[in-house]
Amino acid sequence: MKFFLDTANVNEIKEAKSWAILDGVTTNPSHVAKEGREFIPLVEEICDILPEGDISVEVTSTDMNGILKEAREFVKIRKNIVVKIPLIKEGIKAINILSQEGVRINTTLCFSAIQALIAAKVGATYISPFVGRLDAIGTNGMELVKQIRQIYDKFGYKTQVLSAALRNPMHVLESALAGADVSTMGFGIMEQLFYHPLTDLGLEQFLNDWKKLQRAIQHKN
Ligand code: E4P
Repeated sequence: MKFFLDTANVNEIKEAKSWAILDGVTTNPSHVAKEGREFIPLVEEICDILPEGDISVEVTSTDMNGILKEAREFVKIRKNIVVKIPLIKEGIKAINILSQEGVRINTTLCFSAIQALIAAKVGATYISPFVGRLDAIGTNGMELVKQIRQIYDKFGYKTQVLSAALRNPMHVLESALAGADVSTMGFGIMEQLFYHPLTDLGLEQFLNDWKKLQRAIQHKN
């Protein structure tokens, strides 16, 4: 399963890249707004930090022609851009055209398996079910990931399942078990993936025993 970072913050992307487990980045208009920077130079910088990874950049138009225009501009910026398009009727119409032009699409704001089926039918590269937002309204977000996996496997759709709006490491684990192709997560969650208290405790014990041995050897000599 690939790990994407859900952010538009270049420092977070650089740091996560240094951990050697970062496969891509998902941005959205809220992430970009938080950075308070010019949009195009920010996108260029993100793409250049991780040239080997897919970088999702979201359109803000909600009509087919507007979406097409934005998408065709975005893909000129860098080769690794994936255009993020919301799962609305106008978005689906645009994805149908863009996918035939070879533009790679991340279909965002997916909250039902039927929506995911629609995105696959028009050739989306990724589908992004928003797990944590479903949990927040008292439903089971991970069930959606499982349903999408089942439908895509049954019909042989190549659209990749990108588990999104994840809130904790358990969501990442459950996404992997459900067969998601990608998990996108905030910086804090990705950092948490490394830690286990027993690893820290075990390492401390090993290093203490090693030091004891060194001291004993020194004492002998
Ligand atoms: C996914 O690509 C979205 O950017 C993201 O996961 C949205 O999650 P949020 O609910 O944390 O805003």
